[in-house]
Amino acid sequence: MENIKSYVQQHKDRFINELIELLKIPSVSADTAYSQDVIDTADAVKASLEKAGCDHVEICETAGYPIVYGEKIIDPSLPTVLVYGHYDVQPPDPIELWTSPPFEPVIKKTEIHPEGAIFARGACDDKGQMYMHVKAFEYMIQSNTLPCNVKFMIEGEEEVGSVNLKTFVENNVEKLKNDVILISDTGMISNQQPSITTGLRGLSYVEVEVTGPNRDLHSGLYGGAVANPINILAKMIASLHDENNHITIPGFYDNVEELSLEERAEMAKAPFNLENYKKALDLNDIYGEKGYVTNERNSIRPTLDVNGIWGGYTGEGAKTVIASKAFAKISMRLVPNQEWEQITELFTKHFTSLAPAGVTVKVKPHHGGQGYVTPIDSIGYKAANMAYTETFGVPAIPVRSGGSIPIVALFEKELKSKTILMGFGLDSDAIHSPNEHFGIFNYLKGIETIPLFYKYFVELSK
Ligand code: BES
Ligand code: MN
Ligand code: MN
Repeated sequence: MENIKSYVQQHKDRFINELIELLKIPSVSADTAYSQDVIDTADAVKASLEKAGCDHVEICETAGYPIVYGEKIIDPSLPTVLVYGHYDVQPPDPIELWTSPPFEPVIKKTEIHPEGAIFARGACDDKGQMYMHVKAFEYMIQSNTLPCNVKFMIEGEEEVGSVNLKTFVENNVEKLKNDVILISDTGMISNQQPSITTGLRGLSYVEVEVTGPNRDLHSGLYGGAVANPINILAKMIASLHDENNHITIPGFYDNVEELSLEERAEMAKAPFNLENYKKALDLNDIYGEKGYVTNERNSIRPTLDVNGIWGGYTGEGAKTVIASKAFAKISMRLVPNQEWEQITELFTKHFTSLAPAGVTVKVKPHHGGQGYVTPIDSIGYKAANMAYTETFGVPAIPVRSGGSIPIVALFEKELKSKTILMGFGLDSDAIHSPNEHFGIFNYLKGIETIPLFYKYFVELSK
């Protein structure tokens, strides 16, 4: 029987081409203009699971986009791995900054990916990483080495908050029963140094609206005499951080866990080069909360960021106008123990209280979710580490990530099982940005590493 390494070598062109076909379908969940494409992608994922060898693959309808579910139960007395991933992608905007069209995948070489990387929206987040699991499963079926049961749950609304997945999970606890949840939707340190994500931040996402006069006004005739909603909004937003870049919302830090100096020293062992970090982003300096270093600021600390701000005239040339309304989209990244719904309330109360007479303020909550931390002494973590050690030649380092996959905390609550985050992307892969890509090395290495996770997980479960 051939091993996974030679199977990957033999089939890599097909693996790449199949992923390219999947990436051609623009499954943007945020924009209803793409709704048929999102549905078509669910069908394509379903077909790929059937072809790889799943039994009972179904499209599970929800109030939003469907969830693709498939399983292969070889023996109910053996452990079960639940694989989660998402087939929806972020909007491609700003499209003019892509060097090749976002839904016409091409392979290009980069400094970090000398073997080439597939450039397309969703290449890394998450179609490419999700599809590694389908191909690893194909190998285990073909080689008769699947050591346990597998369930796949691939959703189409991760990038818009997984609102309907929540209901699906709550209503299907028995169907989704498992011993470990396996997700590849995060990153690793580098192609030489694998890491396992042990933490995700929570999220509270809101939209704010400041209204002044009932119509746009001439900025000469009315300027100085009425509140300008854009000026006011800018002032309100600026006041949300103090001079040390702490967030000023009362109660915001109440439940934030302070890590011990030992834990922080442990975190500091992960390789990080500040000069390279700045260089990669063309920054003359870094910025952030006083008292914490970069790797802490973007993982164990909560944040508040404006994601978009608009109002008034932004077209060509100048128009003298005082806008009637100003808007902003604001995200707060949260750490474990911060309750996202409570944070949304604290924000709403505080932000509304900042409004001076002369304007009115509305806060509209979008979505949110809890943060997550996973222990490193679980069977799942150990199995993942053994798998990485075998394929990369060095053990993986545990890293808490700054990103969010809000459904992971809900999985633990409803399904009572731990999630192992085996990510194969790199921070430089530009997820959510123009020119998103996924290294061919990473894609194939992922396919190679995943079956070893299954093998060691089952061995350690005995
Ligand atoms: N895959 C990402 C999250 C991620 C990326 C976590 C890299 C860790 C490392 C996921 O698709 C994502 O983008 N999540 C959103 C949250 C969601 C509610 C829109 C995020 O983090 O902004
Ligand atoms: Mn993702
Ligand atoms: Mn994403």
